[in-house]
Amino acid sequence: MLYNLLRPALFKIPAEPAHRLTIAALRLAPLSHKPTMTPTLCQRVAGIAFPNPVGLAAGFDKNAEVPDAMLGLGFGAVEVGTVTPRPQAGNPRPRLFRLIEDRAVINRMGFNNQGADVVAARLRARPSVPGIVGVNIGANKDSTDRIADYARMTTIMAPLARYLTVNISSPNTPGLRELQDEGALGALLDAVIAARGDQPAPIFLKLAPDLALADIDAICRIAIDRRIDALIVSNTTLARPPLRSPHAGESGGLSGEPLRDLALQRLRNFRKSSGGLIPLIGVGGIASADDAWARIRAGASLVQVYSALVYAGPGLVRDIVRGLEARVRAEGMGSIAEAVGSE
Ligand code: FNR
Repeated sequence: MLYNLLRPALFKIPAEPAHRLTIAALRLAPLSHKPTMTPTLCQRVAGIAFPNPVGLAAGFDKNAEVPDAMLGLGFGAVEVGTVTPRPQAGNPRPRLFRLIEDRAVINRMGFNNQGADVVAARLRARPSVPGIVGVNIGANKDSTDRIADYARMTTIMAPLARYLTVNISSPNTPGLRELQDEGALGALLDAVIAARGDQPAPIFLKLAPDLALADIDAICRIAIDRRIDALIVSNTTLARPPLRSPHAGESGGLSGEPLRDLALQRLRNFRKSSGGLIPLIGVGGIASADDAWARIRAGASLVQVYSALVYAGPGLVRDIVRGLEARVRAEGMGSIAEAVGSE
């Protein structure tokens, strides 16, 4: 309710300053740390017991400034980043747009972040409170050896992260998504796995929705072969379904409701190609418990949310969690694990 009152004022400010203001407010007023622990919603993925399946997607807290405040909103996990080895300014502004009429966002931020050292120091300084914080890693735009960047990020972040996400699907770093190609992907994953050594952090791989079915088959084969712990489907899209907002023509990655059907379809494609051999994390356009439930029934063990928070506010997290709990009960299931892939 409070967010409904504040939203018109927040929407008068351009999107990026509004986001900075939100982070500043969250830093000032860290919320009480009460993970929403719901026995029927607890999900074990890659050896981690997620207290509920609703996570914060990467890109909201790029510099790990507010992971605990976000966990306090009821998220089962928070993914910080994308973090690159060296600090990076990102693309020129404006680079973040609300598409209000479409309940969507277009961004071409370009991995703006404070770099590995600053983020690692912040993670080290976190109080030892419960809560799952994953770190999403990337390569610098001007890197001459991107695979070496991912290996370096793994070395730095594996001791600090409950899980690592190898993000090769941002559309805003030219050439990055070519790491999804068959030849490059195997070499990349081998380097990351070698850099992790015997540390426990599982490795997740985050993928674009703009992939052909043959690419999806190849990615699944390589990920299963390398024993990657989960696939996150998906990042933002370069596609432009029909949109009504005046910002529809901006370049960058589209997220929010217009991404929902594509991300759901890609999740089904990954489920089919992987034969259920690798856990999936569904993300893209999830804005309600119904959306989250549909994604879980299509094969997601966990889901993540970002853009819908802009429109619905922080209460959305608990709404989705409560809605999922009600659906598990209504279906007579003992646990949400029974719903995964049940469609
Ligand atoms: C993102 N996303 C993103 N993903 C990622 O892996 N690293 C990143 O740095 C970012 N940055 C980022 C910034 C902004 C402003 C947005 C809106 C999104 C993608 C995000 O994690 C998610 O995959 C998509 O936004 C789809 O989910 P939603 O937003 O439709 O729920």
